[in-house]
Amino acid sequence: MIKKAIFPVGGLGTRFLPATKALPKEMLPVVDKPLIQYAVEEAAAAGIDEFIFVTGRNKSAIEDHFDHSFELEKTLITKGKADALAMVHDMIHKPGSVSYVRQQDPAGLGHAVWCARNMVHDEPVAILLADDLILGQSCIAEMVAHYRGGNMVAAMNVPTDQTQSYGIITPGKDDGKLVEVKGLVEKPEPKDAPSTIAVVGRYIIEPTVFQTLSNSERSVGDEIQLTDALAQQIGKSEFYGFRFSGERFDCGSKVGFLQANIAFGMANETLAPELMSWIRGRLS
Ligand code: UTP
Repeated sequence: MIKKAIFPVGGLGTRFLPATKALPKEMLPVVDKPLIQYAVEEAAAAGIDEFIFVTGRNKSAIEDHFDHSFELEKTLITKGKADALAMVHDMIHKPGSVSYVRQQDPAGLGHAVWCARNMVHDEPVAILLADDLILGQSCIAEMVAHYRGGNMVAAMNVPTDQTQSYGIITPGKDDGKLVEVKGLVEKPEPKDAPSTIAVVGRYIIEPTVFQTLSNSERSVGDEIQLTDALAQQIGKSEFYGFRFSGERFDCGSKVGFLQANIAFGMANETLAPELMSWIRGRLS
């Protein structure tokens, strides 16, 4: 049902300077794979086969990453590295299934999504933020399986003192998996937060959200917020938060990024024994 996904990668990644001065934040690797590749693979696992990247200046490494590298491939053939060659071939998608649109000004996530409006027709579309990395089942695949129209966001409980880092949901009916979204507020202070149920960077939106974004003004952080446009859909169509089964890491923050590297390293059976023994040694 959901065939297209938008990957907004136009942000400046200022929290990761100087690493992100010339390197896109979404190309930072967790273990051996860039964040954006995890997101693309998560979407592919949901049956999505059209990938729309909203890029910006200094983001060409992302385009190169998902394209042929003839020199590398020739070298791998010459050296007989068949596994590595198969791996780099597997990353190349069908011609015509990947498109790039440029966000000339990083005016916020809502603006980035709006920049993709002409690539999406009268159909719901997935949005994945690569810096929210999820270990476990494909979150967007789980969402697609539960999607029945309207808008859906991935949701998780966060500590009370962290609400100002997230979009926060005012919950309605809640069956433990799907929670009705009765209100949505971007980055409220804990004292103003309607709950501790936070939005994580996975969305399925209906096309009307693009129209709303067309008229959106800058708000929190002087940016055009996707949360604001989604909040305006409340009451007009179905809107649910989906509690996914995986573990989410905030790779937009340094601590979250380090945690992700450790968790993904520990989940890797080749790396885990040496990594665990090193960690145990550090802690003793
Ligand atoms: P963030 O809110 O983490 O912003 O974006 P950022 O600019 O990337 O990073 P900091 O806060 O300066 O360190 C979440 C996602 O939305 C994209 C980012 O690329 C990231 O994948 N984004 C954000 C855009 O595509 N355009 C924007 O204008 C802002």
